Amino acid sequence: MSNYHIKNLEEYFQVYRRSVRNPENFWEEIAEEHFLWRKKWNTVLSWDFTKPEVKWFEGAQLNITENCIDRHLVTRGEKTAILFEPNNPNEAAEHITYRDLYKRVNKLANVLKAKGIKKGDRVCIYLPMIPELAVSLLACARIGAIHSVVFAGFSSTALATRINDAECKMVITSDGSYRGSKMIDLKGIVDEALEECPCVENVLVVKRINSEINVVQGRDQWLQPLLDEASDECEAEIMNAEDPLFILYTSGSTGKPKGMLHTTAGYMVYTAYTFKNVFQYRENDVYWCTADIGWITGHSYIVYGPLANGATTVMFEGVPSYPDYSRFWQIVEKHKVNQFYTAPTAIRALAKEGLSHVESSDLSSLKILGTVGEPINEEAWHWYDDNIGKRKSPIVDTWWQTETGGIMITPIPFSTPTKPTYATLPFPGIQPALMDAEGSEIKGNQVEGRLCVKFPWPSMARTIWGNHERYRNTYFSTFENKYFTGDGALRDEVGYYRITGRVDDVIIVSGHNLGTAPIEDAINEHPAVAESAIVGFPHDIKGNALYGYVILKDTGESRNHENLRKEINQIITEQVGPIAKLDRIQFTQGLPKTRSGKIMRRILRKIASNDISNLGDTSTLLNPEVVQGIIDEVLV
Ligand code: WT7
Repeated sequence: MSNYHIKNLEEYFQVYRRSVRNPENFWEEIAEEHFLWRKKWNTVLSWDFTKPEVKWFEGAQLNITENCIDRHLVTRGEKTAILFEPNNPNEAAEHITYRDLYKRVNKLANVLKAKGIKKGDRVCIYLPMIPELAVSLLACARIGAIHSVVFAGFSSTALATRINDAECKMVITSDGSYRGSKMIDLKGIVDEALEECPCVENVLVVKRINSEINVVQGRDQWLQPLLDEASDECEAEIMNAEDPLFILYTSGSTGKPKGMLHTTAGYMVYTAYTFKNVFQYRENDVYWCTADIGWITGHSYIVYGPLANGATTVMFEGVPSYPDYSRFWQIVEKHKVNQFYTAPTAIRALAKEGLSHVESSDLSSLKILGTVGEPINEEAWHWYDDNIGKRKSPIVDTWWQTETGGIMITPIPFSTPTKPTYATLPFPGIQPALMDAEGSEIKGNQVEGRLCVKFPWPSMARTIWGNHERYRNTYFSTFENKYFTGDGALRDEVGYYRITGRVDDVIIVSGHNLGTAPIEDAINEHPAVAESAIVGFPHDIKGNALYGYVILKDTGESRNHENLRKEINQIITEQVGPIAKLDRIQFTQGLPKTRSGKIMRRILRKIASNDISNLGDTSTLLNPEVVQGIIDEVLV
């Protein structure tokens, strides 16, 4: 286990140097020592970023669920694998042991098989944060079906788009979900989506809120009776290293969402190895990541990474504000959580509510704190460090993406000295580069540029489902022979990285990646709207909030702007989801455009952020005169 657990900075540098000098050797050693293979690989890595094509551990065979479950049964059969904390604090927590998990996954896998799901078929999972969600991912993986989880906060339109893009044959959902004091009718949303989805043959429904559901005969079935009948043994499908494991959608700056495809062996090796090192997981620790499994953070660091390490991973169904703002800290106390991983937006929201909510709980179990999803501001970092970690728990600010599959730039706790707002150093095996606008790499320290990665890593996405050309174009065409992240970053005097934010049209709101295109499409569906553009602007809690510029059709009538604002947000809620609602809407006469007709969001961003002193060169615009007009308009 020489390189599995990094123990100090010197060792980090040693491991890092080796990982860069001989990546194949480095990853092969990790893969050899820590996983269960049905057959070993012939080639560790083959790659070509121009195609792009990347293959790890070719020739190897395995099943990721044997690594996440079966192999732990001998020594950890009675250990809690998933610790489920329900929305309602008065409902008992559920301790699902590795043995229970084995049975539950196998039962569901058998149900899927009986419904005709085979290796390579796509299954859409639209569930709240209940154990069946994790079980569903694993049941798909057990039989080689490709899961496509859609976050249960997405609307029916967003769900339908994703189901159709992946041509899912089945949807696993629930009668509804609890979120704080609210109940959400998930099955109703699925019914609406499926009006547009002819590919779906079966819907399995988990009972969670005991509500009446509409049952479409021949399509919909309650899951529990099927599980009751199913065997708890299901032979694991033997998968090739590069067989697809899952699709997960992320927003792009243009067009429909991108179905990032992750494959089996490399994803497993990388998420397991990063989990172990970034969270320094020890056998009896209780680890909690507050993300939803609907996002990549949940896939990699609630389900696969922790379970591959035989860890106890907490799944929390609820929200940080219910029944009050002390809920997170009460859960930490109740389950004696050792590693706590959350998003800056949650930290800011909790900080705002004051310390009384924190002080009522015993947080002494905490050893390591983590953040992910967006840049963390200095104030939030210190609040977290002072009040949650009591300045003794290192904060790991982990930078990564849906596309990267696992954590890429991060401190190693107790090894890398942390620095507020810095994700610090690349994880072993990761070779970052900062690029200038001309496409050259910027060497040395105290520099800033566009963040790229020069060499493949095992958990990188292999393609965009159904659109390899878009994959090449989005990530591998901006800079020759490099993966382009879409983020800007700076490197300080000691080589630490700080991520400064997106340099494209993706906007991160409360840690959620939102593309401009689907939101603008939704706005434009309003009958009164002629055209629209959205940009991000700084927001105390969400990091960024959305600002919409809307041009109304000229009908000669006067319109009630307040009503229009409500209607526009209503359409966005229906088409994309409530997370994409606009905080501000400015009705305007024109939008600044380039000569090729592209909206100049840079200028709109500045106006939205109240930063109009330096708008840059506007003379190249097709219509420079609209800029002053937009500035002059009063927000009415
Ligand atoms: C984008 C990826 C990775 C899981 C959650 C988000 C931003 C992510 C950090 C961080 C600064 C960060 C980047 C990135 N981001 N982590 N620690 N510091 N920015 O996954 O939805 O694919 O979003 O989130 O802009 O490109 P995602």
